[in-house]
Amino acid sequence: MTPRKHGKKREKQLETAASQIMARQSTKGNSAEKEGSSGSSPLGLDIGTSKIVLAKKDYRKTTFSSQKNEFINVDYSRFTEGILEQNDIRHYRSGDSLLVYGDGAETFASMMNSETRRPMRRGLVNPKEVNAIQVIKGIIDDLLSSSRTYGTQLCFSVPAPAKGAESDLIYHETVLKRYLNEMGFKARSINEGLAVVFSELEDENFTGFGISAGGGICNVCLAYLSVPVLTFRIEKGGDFIDDAVASVTGEVNTRVRNYKENDLDLTKKPSNEIEDALVIYYDDLILSLVEALRDTVSRTSKIPKFERPIQIVLSGGTAMPNGFKERFEHFLKREEFPIEIRKVRLSSDPLNATSKGALVAAQFEE
Ligand SMILES: Nc1ncnc2c1ncn2[C@@H]1O[C@H](COP(=O)(O)OP(=O)(O)OP(=O)(O)O)[C@@H](O)[C@H]1O
Ligand SMILES: [Mg+2]
Repeated sequence: MTPRKHGKKREKQLETAASQIMARQSTKGNSAEKEGSSGSSPLGLDIGTSKIVLAKKDYRKTTFSSQKNEFINVDYSRFTEGILEQNDIRHYRSGDSLLVYGDGAETFASMMNSETRRPMRRGLVNPKEVNAIQVIKGIIDDLLSSSRTYGTQLCFSVPAPAKGAESDLIYHETVLKRYLNEMGFKARSINEGLAVVFSELEDENFTGFGISAGGGICNVCLAYLSVPVLTFRIEKGGDFIDDAVASVTGEVNTRVRNYKENDLDLTKKPSNEIEDALVIYYDDLILSLVEALRDTVSRTSKIPKFERPIQIVLSGGTAMPNGFKERFEHFLKREEFPIEIRKVRLSSDPLNATSKGALVAAQFEE
């Protein structure tokens, strides 16, 4: 193909991608308008490896908006920049590149036959990605643009620290907090597992286990009357499953992820190679989670005496496939557990539980 023809093809691809993204953004835009600007009412922000989610209260209703936490680099050209601007697709220029970020990045990547990149890895800013902080700030700016009132209380989620790399969390938390404060918010962080307790266990006096099985990691918090007794993480999440399944089946990650999100049922017998591998790695993740839970509780000396058996709430995108809760219960019951558990429950809104809990925490700060 001649360079000219190649250029034309690329321009066509870009225009198609832009119109697809536009169609999606315009539906989102309408709902944001309906939500209106909530002025100084508190905000909850879940800054996750795969997604950033904002929760806010409009009148009595909690509403959510989100953007994928990913981006793609395309070569800079005035034509591309013009298309992005005309279509209001989130982007910025960095030297000879244009960085397209948020929900638009995925559509762009698939049109250009390439993969998106992530500014975060395993719950924290990815130190190997030079654009990481700028992309996260861009997404946060967009989500918060209609809620920017000076002095608004805002809680944002942070993961539990990784074993042996505790100082990485200090950097992650400080950079985000400083930025949110510079935007005029009164920002405070909340552990992600505790946020799940805040959103899901109000009827239990904020006592029990909150678990978020996310894209990068799984976060766990045991709380007693809203006070965290223990928090920890395991280094496996949806990305681990996608990478592992792609590696053994030879499929690309995007196809594995689509299959996992749309067709996986852990209660059914696998009917093809991808399903078989997904079930194997899901079991591996769930077993790692249950074993880490058992070990951590057994090693913790300060566990309070609960008046009655407690609940475990599961949330996060990775906990969504049918059968996740049942596999979790199966592994939990295989050996004795040091605390009496009354019930294991899946959150009714697994993708929004963290931001909702952060919002509850922000409301307490008022
Ligand atoms: N319906 C679904 N079934 C299975 N997996 C899903 C589904 N929906 C989303 N996921 C997976 O959930 C993960 C994202 O979950 P979530 O949004 O809770 O993560 P995150 O908060 O961004 O990440 P983390 O908490 O690890 O930083 C991804 O791996 C995604 O593929
Ligand atoms: Mg999360």
